[in-house]
Formats: sequence, structure tokens, C-alpha cells
Amino acid sequence: MRKHLFETKPLSLLLEEMRSGDRLHRVLGRWHLTSLGVGAIIGTGIFVLTGVAAHDKAGPALTLSFAVAGVACIFAALCYAEFASMVPIAGSAYTYAYATLGELFAWIIGWDLILEYTVASSAVAHGWSHYFQDFLSVFGVHLPAILTNAPFDFNSAGHLALTGTWFDFPAIAVTALIASILVIGVKESANFNNAMVAVKVSIVLFVIAVGAFYVKPANWHPFAPFGYTGVSFFGHTLMGQTGPNGEPLGVFAGAAMIFFAYIGFDSISTQAEEAINPQKDMPVGIIASLIICTVLYILVTAVLTGMVPYNHLNIDSPVSDAFRQVGLPWAQLLISLGAIAGITSVLLVMMLSQPRVFLAMARDGLLPPKFFAAIHPRYRTPYKSTILTGIVVASMAALVPLRILAELVNIGTLLAFVIVCAAVPVMRRTNPDADRPFRCPMVPLVPFLGIASCLLLMFSLPAENWWRLIVWLAVGLVIYFTYGRRHSVLARRRAAARG
Ligand code: ALA
Repeated sequence: MRKHLFETKPLSLLLEEMRSGDRLHRVLGRWHLTSLGVGAIIGTGIFVLTGVAAHDKAGPALTLSFAVAGVACIFAALCYAEFASMVPIAGSAYTYAYATLGELFAWIIGWDLILEYTVASSAVAHGWSHYFQDFLSVFGVHLPAILTNAPFDFNSAGHLALTGTWFDFPAIAVTALIASILVIGVKESANFNNAMVAVKVSIVLFVIAVGAFYVKPANWHPFAPFGYTGVSFFGHTLMGQTGPNGEPLGVFAGAAMIFFAYIGFDSISTQAEEAINPQKDMPVGIIASLIICTVLYILVTAVLTGMVPYNHLNIDSPVSDAFRQVGLPWAQLLISLGAIAGITSVLLVMMLSQPRVFLAMARDGLLPPKFFAAIHPRYRTPYKSTILTGIVVASMAALVPLRILAELVNIGTLLAFVIVCAAVPVMRRTNPDADRPFRCPMVPLVPFLGIASCLLLMFSLPAENWWRLIVWLAVGLVIYFTYGRRHSVLARRRAAARG
């Protein structure tokens, strides 16, 4: 049994599976992939979380936080790129872990990716709702208050309190719309995404170019009011200042929060099976989209904290509100529109990725294949799991506050990155001669730096996230031992070969 838990799925089997069976359509080229990457990356993180992160965690030094998180992601991206070019089938980190660290780790990471994609989608839908409401407010339209937010949220003292609302209706509506688009087809979704990406990148460039004229360098002083560090270990501060609830503050703590803004580059790897030339194009898509976004983020944050004192930044829609504060209400309108488009495309890619991870897990027998591997006869999309994802995302987005969702996503994704970074040197040892169209440079140094920087960010998150992650993983293990292990295709093959 112990042997089975750590049994790996041979690379040759993965490649054989890739060539056979009920596969998805190969329709995505290099620019489609980069655009999907940018589509998945720029969204709620920069348009919404920047406000609370600058206000509560890092001040103007949030620009450094973006640089720190960007560097951690680049290490992880290089590792992802090596795998994505080697094993270009749906499933992303889950598949890589199966091939290197064994079935148990694969399950853990697959379960963890649900945190990344489904919970992130819920957080993103919330962000969409804030900007949609901001946009309506420009015309004096206000939704009934009971339909505008989650029923509980953090108050100004940092404690959870009732908000007096029932649920977030716009978040539900946008999730239903995106789930319907995704059922119809990935090519259609990619075209829709390209249009959205063009709009949002233009708006981000607009924020940088126009906002730069309204920067007052005095707003950058003090630059790091909460310090340059911010690391804790299960609630005990190791470095830097501590907030009212014992949470770490400073540049690292800011980086751990806005790490959310970078999530998504890895989701390109879940679309490997739909790439026309995955070996070459996946690494380009992953790394190019990440670099583009890092540069844009640093510039936007510098402009934003230069336009408005960090402690006057609005929490719900900080970017558009900064333009209102400097007396450009027309820009507020434009930016909310861009943010709505931008966040829509993030939601699209995140909700596209989740069913593909389910699909990979179901093909391996770790989830019921009748449901999770069902592909629509006409649209060729994993429609059942797409609809399920839509229902779960809409429910969480309607009821759970943004900050809880975002922090949970961050810790889950950071863990996935740690595992992928660890898997690269393992794969180099176990399959030294495998074809690697893209090689991560300086192995094992880069994977090691990836692991160290992701762990640092995990410890810069408030401690309760660790407990939530541990509970989540424990639930996952119960499911694995009661279902996945018994139905594993690999285990059954081995039994058949023996018997
Ligand atoms: N990176 C994505 C966003 O910021 C999840 O919305």
C-alpha cells in the first residue's frame, strides 16, 4: 500500500495517453496562450487588493511587494515551463506531481488546485461586483443594499462583522454568464478573452500614463510605514511589525497578499492539451505573460500610491477612486469599464482551468469519470464539471468575503508552486534522458529559490490561513482514501499486470 501511494505515473504512459483517446481540440497558438496568461493574471489583484494591501500592509512600499512576489513567481514559472513543455496535457501541476512524486502528492496538489481555481474564481467574481457597482454608481444607479455584498466581512477594526447584506448578486450573475460561455467552447472563449485582454491592458496603460501626471512625490513618504519585512510563524512574529490581530505587516506581508495578483500564469499549463504546439509555445506563454504583468503592476502601484496618500486609498475600487480623488471623474468611468472587462477575462480563464484539472484527475480514476471526464458531444468541453464549478463559485462568491477567499487562494497556490519546484529536480533525476524542449536554468538552484521564496510568502500570511489549508488538505485526504485510492487507474493496471 505504501508503495502504491508513492507510485508515479510513468512519463511514457503520459505521452502515450496524450496521443490517444477522447482529447480536447488543439486550437490555441502562442499569442492565444500569452493572451490567456495575461487574461488570467491582471484582475482583482491589481484593481482591488492593491487598495487594502497598501492601506493596511505595506504603504507605498507595495511596489516592492509586487517585485518580491513577481520574483517568487518567476522562479516557479521557470519550473512550470519545463514541465509544461515536457508533459503538455491537461492537468498542470497535478500531472507533473503524478509523474514525479507519486499518486498521493498528485492528489494533494489536485485538491489544492481546487483552492487555486475555484476559490480564486469566487474572489475574482467579488472584485468584478465591486467595479460593476462602482460603474453603476457613476450614473447614480445603486442596487438594493441587500444584494451588494457577502453577509459578513472585516470591519475597520479588522474583526469579522455582519454587513447587513444578504448576498452578492452581481457576483452570481457574472459567474453564471461565464460558465455558460465556457460550456459552449474553448475557441469561442479564447476569442472573447482576447478582446477583454486588449481592453484591460489599454486601461492599465492609461492608468500609468495619465496617473503619472498626478503623482505627488510627497505621497511616497514615508515609503515603508509598516517596515520592509513582515514574517510570522503560526501567529508568532519572526520579523517586522504586527497588526491588531497579530498578523504580520510590511513589504513581505503585502507581497503575500498581492501574490493573488499573479495567480493565473500557471493556468496556461492547464490548457496544454488545447495548444497547437505546446512544447515551444507553453514556456513562451507562461514566461512572457508573467514578465509583462510584473512590469505593469509595479508601475500601476507606484502611480497609485503617488496620486493618493496610501491611507486614503479606497478599499473596494482603489484604482478608479484614485482618479475621482484627483478630480477626473470621467476617468473613473473608463477605469471601471476596463476593470470589469479585465476581471471578466480572469474569471473566464480560472473557470476554464478548474474543469481541466478535474478532467485529468478523473481520467486517472481519482474522481468519478462519468461526471468529471464527461465531454460534451458537440462542444467538446468538460461541460458537467464546468457547470458544477459555476455553481460552487457562485455560492462562495455570494456569501464569503473577498479577503478570506483571496488569502486562502494564496496559501493554496503557494503550496502548489512549492511542490512543482520540488518536482523539477526529482524529474531530472528519475527521467534524465526525457525530451525537455524547455529546460529550467540552474537546477537545482532556481527550484530551491522558488521553494524558499514561496515558503517565505506563506509565512507572511496571517496564521489562520495555515489552519484553513490544513483542514482543507485533511478533507482531501479523507476523499482520497475513501474513493481515489480504490479507483486509481494506475493501481488497477498494476493489479491486472500482477494477476
Ligand atoms: N491574478 C488574478 C487576479 O488578480 C487572480 O484577479
